[in-house]
Amino acid sequence: MKNVLIIGSTGQIGSELTMKLRGIYTNGNIVAGYIKGAEPKGVLAESGPSAEVDITSAEQIAQAVDKYQVDTIYNLAALLSAVAENKPQLAWKIGVGGLFNVLEVAREKHCAVFTPSSIGSFGLNTPKDHTPQDTIQRPNTMYGVTKVSGELLSDYYAHRFGVDTRSVRFPGLISYVTPPGGGTTDYAVDIYYSAVKGETFKCPIAAGTFMDMMYMPDALRAAIEIMEADASRLVHRNSFNIASMSFDPEMIYASIKKYIPDFKMQYEHDHLRQAIADSWPNSLDDSCARAEWDWKPEFDLDTMTRDMIEKLRVKFSK
Ligand code: SER
Repeated sequence: MKNVLIIGSTGQIGSELTMKLRGIYTNGNIVAGYIKGAEPKGVLAESGPSAEVDITSAEQIAQAVDKYQVDTIYNLAALLSAVAENKPQLAWKIGVGGLFNVLEVAREKHCAVFTPSSIGSFGLNTPKDHTPQDTIQRPNTMYGVTKVSGELLSDYYAHRFGVDTRSVRFPGLISYVTPPGGGTTDYAVDIYYSAVKGETFKCPIAAGTFMDMMYMPDALRAAIEIMEADASRLVHRNSFNIASMSFDPEMIYASIKKYIPDFKMQYEHDHLRQAIADSWPNSLDDSCARAEWDWKPEFDLDTMTRDMIEKLRVKFSK
């Protein structure tokens, strides 16, 4: 990796991944791809090049790849699960049509491609606990349909055309820099904002609903390490289960109360999000990622909670 294009650089993952890549690959072009209305600002805009790259335009992707001699594309454009249920046509257009554009440009111009998959790629008939790497993937959400399609399409381009496609199935990602938008796991981000602001949190997900989650620093490391991994060791490509923690709302609430004892949470049921959460695994088995590219998470629930609270307090004091 030397010259990298990040499509969706101003989103939850992109805003942090772009900065991290710029810190590592100091001699390369780390290009912040953005769409109109979501232009990079502040340090993201000032610390490196940016280019308008709408994933639905193969031409814009190709132009940025040519201009900056891009060798690796991080394709982070997507609608999250709850939004995708409300806009399924757009979710397909971005998630699958957009990926097709990226893969075609990558095929022609010899780029490696990272496209995140998700715990959302599993469905009701997937084994729920320690979900294996290779198992049934029949999701009933449009988000999941785009993710499974993306895994298949990416593997197809690897086998058929030799495009170096790789990916991980992200759990719910928790971060403090840029808020996520419209995911099912996002309650586990919102709860920290409420706690630090001194508000009562209204939890849309029922007690006892377990999902895999991950703190952003671990997720960023996974995204970089999989692209740097020795290809000869990879048995799988699209996409690796990765995991670091699994919890339900009661567990994250208890973790926050260790640091903010007065914090209060009450339940306010959200049918759409609950149905989506119920169709996803409780916890993934990530042994293939550990064996094939030495994946290992660093944060657990309490170390994440401590760091989130500390970082959000700094953010709100500015
Ligand atoms: N965070 C995502 C969502 O909830 C899952 O990958 O949509």
